[in-house]
Amino acid sequence: MNIFEARMNELYELVKHHAELYYDKDAPEIPDSEYDALVRELNELERDYPEFSRKDFLTHKVGGSPSELFAKVEHKIPMLSLDNVFNPDELTNFFTRINLSGPFTCEMKIDGLAVSLIYQDGVFVQGATRGNGNIGEDVTENLLLIDAVPKKLINPPAGRVEVRGEVLMTLERFKAINARQEERGGKLFANPRNAAAGTLRQKDGKILAERGLDIFLYYLVDAEKFGVTRQSEALTWLKEKGLPIQEAWSLCENLDDAKNFISHWHDERYKLNYVTDGVVIKLDDLTQWPNIGSTSHAPRWAVAYKYPPEEARTKLLDIKISVGRTGVLTPVAILEPVRLAGTQVSRASLHNVDEISRKDIRVGDVVIVRKAAEIIPEIVNVDVSARTGQEKIFMMPANCPACNSEIVRLPEEAAYRCPNRASCPAQLKEGLRYFAARDGMNIKGLGKSLAEKLIASGKIKTLSDIYTLSLEDWMTLDKIGEKSAQNILAELEASKSRPFVNLLTALGILGVGKNAASLLVDEFGNIDNLKAASIDEISEIEGIGPVIARSVHEFFGNQANLKLIEDFRSLGFSMGSENVTLKEKNTLDGKIFVFTGSLSTMTRDEAGEKVKALGGKVSSSISKKTTYLIAGDKTGSKLQKAEELGVKILTEQEFLDMIS
Ligand code: IVH
Repeated sequence: MNIFEARMNELYELVKHHAELYYDKDAPEIPDSEYDALVRELNELERDYPEFSRKDFLTHKVGGSPSELFAKVEHKIPMLSLDNVFNPDELTNFFTRINLSGPFTCEMKIDGLAVSLIYQDGVFVQGATRGNGNIGEDVTENLLLIDAVPKKLINPPAGRVEVRGEVLMTLERFKAINARQEERGGKLFANPRNAAAGTLRQKDGKILAERGLDIFLYYLVDAEKFGVTRQSEALTWLKEKGLPIQEAWSLCENLDDAKNFISHWHDERYKLNYVTDGVVIKLDDLTQWPNIGSTSHAPRWAVAYKYPPEEARTKLLDIKISVGRTGVLTPVAILEPVRLAGTQVSRASLHNVDEISRKDIRVGDVVIVRKAAEIIPEIVNVDVSARTGQEKIFMMPANCPACNSEIVRLPEEAAYRCPNRASCPAQLKEGLRYFAARDGMNIKGLGKSLAEKLIASGKIKTLSDIYTLSLEDWMTLDKIGEKSAQNILAELEASKSRPFVNLLTALGILGVGKNAASLLVDEFGNIDNLKAASIDEISEIEGIGPVIARSVHEFFGNQANLKLIEDFRSLGFSMGSENVTLKEKNTLDGKIFVFTGSLSTMTRDEAGEKVKALGGKVSSSISKKTTYLIAGDKTGSKLQKAEELGVKILTEQEFLDMIS
């Protein structure tokens, strides 16, 4: 195998791993910019070495595909997409070429995740995502946790009712969740759509319920069966049955009316509490829909009018550098404030230095900023004709703005880095938030603002220092009262008894999030075995590539890191199990567990960790392959399914006996 093929194979594994963490597990381990850099490197290699390219790899697929993590559901009637038009003339052409002149319903196009809900005799029995249109994922359990999804219909018709719509996150929830994620050092969602998609496919029901997703229905399947002959009536019908619909819709006599609706909502949409990127225009007379028909992917009786992304001109005042947890330096554009898509914008992301030189962006330039689906605006291009000659070409500084260390650019990475992992205050600040995050030491209250205060106070030079501060130390931090200081001390004390996998995650080893950390703990059992492991031994673990293996090995080769680990050991942290024997480890080898309902002695996550530590697997849905269903309190439809499939059902106590 030549070196390029080897690198491509490695990149395929890495991209797959990180895409899974981001999209399926909602728990990314690396910043988006690093993920993008991996994909970019892979794309470049694919272009140069097509013979090693994997044609069916996820980056080549259009649209979603049903994930392996949920059971599959076949849609009796395919869930289609919509064709797009981008201006009034295209809208006219779309309908007049097949002689349709109205009336039409105009509805806002909701930027969420399409789902189908099935009610049997008025009771919600199944929900699925669109998947590839024919086969979606069974997300019934998760939809049951969304308050906005009615579990029963009002005055329901007998038999089966299928309705379709969009799961979404309101802007208010989105802002609140991102604020909390930021406070906890978690990953920020790029936009409400991503947040909704990530949340709906969450495995942890508690998080899903907390996040408060919403739903709007817009499609009644087989409407005529219920005496409904018009889309406008269908919307009213849905509402009468208790299904939420979005109220910004109107019945338009003809295309001119539809165009008025579209221009009215162009600005008004920013007053809505959810993101819409267009208007869906549907022929109101739904009895004609079957005659008019569909292409393989979209109906001919409806179309989506997409609003152009909002753009504005403003001045680029400065380019600042922010230093991330892993030392990656990201340039940020500081703009003269300008109104864009309903909000005031004064910053834009620049992703990386290559983008600045590719677009030839100079400080002082007049730039065009755009807000597309992403909440953070970006610079589209520069108005070169407005240049005065005073603009300054941006140069990456030679030294880190936070600690003055000399910046490095590793040959295999697009990003610039501050190499001072041990004591760069900017990295330490981000590292602290990561350390305290939920998957790490889960220290409530130690978020962004407290991390900033700690660093500014100069009281800590390394992570373990937070455990040496006294009540007075905490109280001398700006605005920390005695009560808060006591709370923090109690949280810190509690964090000392977290399992070893949390500490290993919290250390912030590059590429090692909760998932990789638990693979390492499964294999090596404790810190000393891990420390002694070679790169080869680490990369033999399924799910850990050579890049992560090297990163782990390098981490343990660094004196400052070894010192940090010894600090934690003397503070009484768990460093893993003393005696690790293979037999003990793999008693649940090959067994697949599914949990339903709540457990009384531990959370489902903790139970899952125990199963994995013993070599078993955890799945979210029941299938023939499931070995055991562990039934806690308040079980749902999984219990019935397990009985149907003859899957063995255990009580919580039986489960505890098995793993003890
Ligand atoms: S009707 C047969 N109405 O947009 C097609 N779709 O880009 C039925 N969408 O797949 C779709 N708001 O997920 C319809 N008011 C609305 C919508 C809507 C959002 C989504 C839907 C569709 C996608 C196409």
